[in-house]
Amino acid sequence: MKLDTKFSTIYISSEIQKILTEILQNFKNRKIFVIVDENTKTNCLPVIKNIEGIKNSKIIELESGESNKGIKSLEKVWSSLTENGADRSSMLINLGGGIIGDLGGFAASTFKRGIDFINIPTTLLSQVDASIGGKTGVNFLGLKNELGVFNHPKYVIIDSSFNRTLKKEHISSGWAEMLKHALIFNEKDWDNLISNNIKQIGFKELNLLIARSVSIKNHFVEKDPFEKDIRKALNFGHTFGHAFESLFMNTTNEISHGEAVAHGMICELYLSGSFCDFSTNKIDTMVSYLLKTYNKLKLNDADFEKIIDLIGHDKKNEGLNINFTLLEDFGKIKINQNCKRELLIETLNWYKNL
Ligand code: GLY
Repeated sequence: MKLDTKFSTIYISSEIQKILTEILQNFKNRKIFVIVDENTKTNCLPVIKNIEGIKNSKIIELESGESNKGIKSLEKVWSSLTENGADRSSMLINLGGGIIGDLGGFAASTFKRGIDFINIPTTLLSQVDASIGGKTGVNFLGLKNELGVFNHPKYVIIDSSFNRTLKKEHISSGWAEMLKHALIFNEKDWDNLISNNIKQIGFKELNLLIARSVSIKNHFVEKDPFEKDIRKALNFGHTFGHAFESLFMNTTNEISHGEAVAHGMICELYLSGSFCDFSTNKIDTMVSYLLKTYNKLKLNDADFEKIIDLIGHDKKNEGLNINFTLLEDFGKIKINQNCKRELLIETLNWYKNL
């Protein structure tokens, strides 16, 4: 499948070698660089390393993990580009999950005022989310994605079979973003998605679902590339979600991004029911699917204040308002919904008693 978007050409296919070979034929005589981490070096690089065009490329190895998504790694990429004679016509390939894609995209966007880059996302989460939409960046002074620019890869090549080496939690993390895409788009997409069993799905079928998910995300990105308006739909579930992610960070109960978003969606569905009249029957059905798929978080009353504080610090909140993206129904989006603190406490009490 090929999706020609306003910003990037996106391939979703199990023929990654053929596609990359064809693309790189147009980049002959141009220096190619590939960023990997220790995981993608072992598990993913072998899939592409014998391709004409990659054979003689320079491999830049970074250490995996959120703590390495910073200036130091960025400097390593820039240094490697400079020391190996990269010029404006060079191409950077980001082979990895969201961290490599974001960091590599930023490095490419700033090197000599911008060189072309290709994202080859290797986790389900990055295949349906970070690899498309043009958000690039690194963490700075302990703040996530504090430095970055919007700039799109020239190509994105997605092959779900890279997920073969991923742990189950990584798959369910990406699945949560796919559920979100369905929810903000229409009921048919939601019904179709949940009719699949993510634990048993084959890679060909998964590629089809990814393609649909990517085209939904792209719909919002094309309408509002700089997230001033309707792209905020993609933040559904993320206000509570980011707070849950931070609450459990560095504890023995650490949760994945997608798991946090799944529980964030549960809370924001409740808010959608209270604030925007989303049908309670529909919400109940969705909440029960989400709780079946993602184990409920154990929250105690003392956590409530921390969560509200964390929500207050969410970067999506302008001024003192706590703004949510909510829904009136599947695909009926209400951005910038200002919910009062009492309603957030009520939501957490409701969640705790589920
Ligand atoms: N991850 C949401 C977005 O790209 O806007």
